[in-house]
Amino acid sequence: MTEVERPVVRPRRLRATPALRRLVAETSVEPRHLVLPMFVREGITEPVPIGSMPGVVQHTRDSARRAVAEAAQAGIGGVMLFGVPERKDPLGSGACDPNGILNLAIADAVAEIGDALPVMADLCLDEFTDHGHCGVLDARGRVDNDATLALYAEMARAQADAGVHVVGPSGMMDGQVAVVRAALDDASHEDVAILAYSAKYASAFYGPFREAVASSLEGDRRTYQQDPANALEGVREALLDVEQGADLVMVKPGLPYLDVLRAVREAVDVPVAAYNISGEYSMVEAAAERGWIDREAAILESLTAFRRAGADVILSYWAVEAARLLSSSWRR
Ligand code: PBG
Repeated sequence: MTEVERPVVRPRRLRATPALRRLVAETSVEPRHLVLPMFVREGITEPVPIGSMPGVVQHTRDSARRAVAEAAQAGIGGVMLFGVPERKDPLGSGACDPNGILNLAIADAVAEIGDALPVMADLCLDEFTDHGHCGVLDARGRVDNDATLALYAEMARAQADAGVHVVGPSGMMDGQVAVVRAALDDASHEDVAILAYSAKYASAFYGPFREAVASSLEGDRRTYQQDPANALEGVREALLDVEQGADLVMVKPGLPYLDVLRAVREAVDVPVAAYNISGEYSMVEAAAERGWIDREAAILESLTAFRRAGADVILSYWAVEAARLLSSSWRR
């Protein structure tokens, strides 16, 4: 055997045992960092499994309440509610109706949990419009930015009246954060916080979500969501939202955009969230189903990657399960 020079520096020393690795881990995921997105569907009596997202359901109002209680029990950071209405129309009227499914679900969640768990809601028209776009359309069929803003203002008021703690404007209309902030303040809802979906990209990885909310979209959202080629623009969007009063900003999707997450984390001084979206979830679930990947290890590695890239908050369909895994995971 040839003589080799013996290394003086041995990074492997600190990797030798689980306890040493735990001691020097640079980042960790805690249950409090995780937010569970939930779908609440109008007019059903049993939870409906979502085929494209194995393990995720569309909740009834009752099962949603139970899931919110369970989320609090698991010690996660919050829930993010999405509504799936029975009827849709061009203006997405269900979004602003106090008896619309999302506003009822907010009130249910708050009745269940009070202030013990932040109740957040998606503030966007796409689940409520029959054309499936995040805003209303003008005479030529284009998404009309400013006409949409007026509806977001109304939707924000309705969600705040229902008791929401945090609204999540996700429609990528210019100026949406300022309009939502003003609408909340005018209605004496100064305490309601804004989690702005700031850098939201037009992504193929939203695919499985479209079934979750029974989306009626044809075509794409490329005139309002961002081009996946652009990172600086994501930072610009985040800075604009902070200027307009965002309390937290978000980067979405997550794993394919960790560079944008890092850049936004360095550019702003508010908490940064990242959304571990449906496609990221379903790819792992599908591969695990086939025995191609270690499901639990892949879940924890994904969540750790978000933290390493700078996320303060992570929205994930695995939130509750991960919170449980985390309490026993350090020995791995
Ligand atoms: C739009 C919205 C979308 C998601 C959250 N909010 C879909 C879209 O923009 O098409 C996607 C979430 C996911 O894929 O998990 N209101």
